[in-house]
Amino acid sequence: MDKMIIEGGIPLIGEVQVSGSKNAALPIIASSIMFDDAGNEIFNVPDLEDIKTIKKLLISLGAEIKESGETDKVIINTSNINNYEAPYDLVKTMRASVLVLGPLLAKYKRARVSLPGGCAIGARPIDFHLNALKLLGANIVVDHGYVEAFTEQLRGATINFPIPSVTGTENVVMAASLAEGTTVINNAAREPEIDDLILALNTGGADIKRIEPSVIVVNGVKKLNKLSHRVLPDRIEAGTFMVASAITRGDITIKDINIGHLKAVIDKLSEAGAKIVINSQSSLRIKGSKVIKSVDVATAPYPDFPTDMQAQMMALMTISSGLCVISENVFENRFMHVAELMRLGANVKVRNNFAIVKGVKRLSGAEVMATDLRASASLVLAGLASFDGYTAVSRIYHLDRGYEKMEKKLANLGAVISRVSEAESSNINEFAEKDINYGKGM
Ligand code: EPZ
Repeated sequence: MDKMIIEGGIPLIGEVQVSGSKNAALPIIASSIMFDDAGNEIFNVPDLEDIKTIKKLLISLGAEIKESGETDKVIINTSNINNYEAPYDLVKTMRASVLVLGPLLAKYKRARVSLPGGCAIGARPIDFHLNALKLLGANIVVDHGYVEAFTEQLRGATINFPIPSVTGTENVVMAASLAEGTTVINNAAREPEIDDLILALNTGGADIKRIEPSVIVVNGVKKLNKLSHRVLPDRIEAGTFMVASAITRGDITIKDINIGHLKAVIDKLSEAGAKIVINSQSSLRIKGSKVIKSVDVATAPYPDFPTDMQAQMMALMTISSGLCVISENVFENRFMHVAELMRLGANVKVRNNFAIVKGVKRLSGAEVMATDLRASASLVLAGLASFDGYTAVSRIYHLDRGYEKMEKKLANLGAVISRVSEAESSNINEFAEKDINYGKGM
C-alpha cells in the first residue's frame, strides 16, 4: 500500500485544472445500460479507482468499454449485456455500484445486486432506493445479502423521499425514464450531479424535468438512443484545492469549474478570511489569509455546505485563530479524520455529531492513516500546512478513489510531495534523511 510523503509549510501558488465529477460520472456510466446505441460516448471522465470499478462492473454484465485516444473519453456498448448481477466483491468496494439497479430493472426488467454493506462513514442503507422501486412496480426480495428484483413492467408513480438521497434520486430517475407513464419525485436531492445525469438522459431521448428545486417529473419513454455527454466539473475536487490555497496561505487559480455549484464553499471560505476573486463562471482565484478566522460549519444536502467538504474544512479550522463548531448532519460517522488530525497537533473534541475545533498556531508533521476518501484529502491538506517535519499519509488508496493525479496537481503548485511504497518509507525520519527529491518526474 502506497503512502504520500509531504513536507509542509510551503504556500501553493499557480493554476490547477479540475477533473470531471466522480459523482456525476458514476450514475452516467451506469445509465449507459439503458441506451441502445453501440457507441455511447462520455467525455471528461476522471481517471479514478471508483471509475475503474464501475467499468469493471459493466464489463462483468457484458458491456464493451473502449477508452479513446483522448484520456478522458469513454465509449460504451451495452447492447450485448447478458448478465444482470452486481456481485458482492465489486459492490463492497464501491457502494455506488447500486446505481446499476435502476437501469437493469428499466431495461432488462431484472437485477441481482449485492447489498453494499456498511462503510467507514456510516451504515448507508439503501431502503429509500428499494421502497421507491417497489412503488414503480418492482418485486424486490432481499436475501443472502443480495437484492433480487424483477418486474413485468415498471409504471410511473409518486415517490416521496423521507430525506433527500443523491443516489436514491438517481436510481429512481433512471428506472422511471423507461417506465410506462409519469413519475413524480418529491423531496428529490438537489445535487448538481443529478441534473448532469438528467441532461445526459434527455440528450439521449428521455423526458425528465426538475419542475421545482426538490421535485423531478419523469415521463417514461419507450427507448433511449445514444448517450453522448461531457461530465460536469468536480465541485468537491475544486473545493479541496480551494482549501489547499487557504491552508497554505497560497494563491491558486482554479479552472474548469462551475462557480454556481460552489456557492456554499465560496461563502464559507470567504467568511474564514480567504480572498476569492471570481474570474468567470468557470474560474476563480483564491488567496489564503495570514489569519484564518474560526467559522462554524454545518453540513446539509445541496445547496448547503457539502458533507464531502467537511473533513477538508476541519483541516483548515485546526490552524484557525479561535474556536469553532463543525456539525456533520448527513452521515452518522464522518469524523474518522479527527484522531489522525490530532496526531498532527490539532485540538478537536467530538461530541456526537459535533466537533469543537480549537485552532492551534501550527501543526507538526507525523505519520497518519487515511480511513475514507475525504478524510484522506483532509490529512493531505493538514500535511501541506504542517510547519515542521514530514507527514506520511498511509492507505492513500482511499484518496485514489476520488482524486485524479492529486500529488501531480499539488506538485505543480509547488508542493513538496511524493508517493512512495510502504517499504520505501517504513520510517519517516529515515526517509527524510535520504532527502529524496520530491515531486520530480511526477
Ligand atoms: C452520495 O452518496 C455521494 N456519493 C456521497 O459522496 C455524498 O457524501 C452523499 O451523496 C451526500 O451528498 C455518490 O454520489 C456516488 P445519500 P449517497 O443517499 O447517495 C441516508 C464522496 O465522498 N440514506 O444522499 O449514498 C444516508 O445514510 C461520497 O464522494 C438512507 O437512510 O448518499 C445518509 O445519512 C461519500 N437510506 C443520507 O440518507 C437510503 O436508502 C444521505 O445519503 C439512502 C440514504
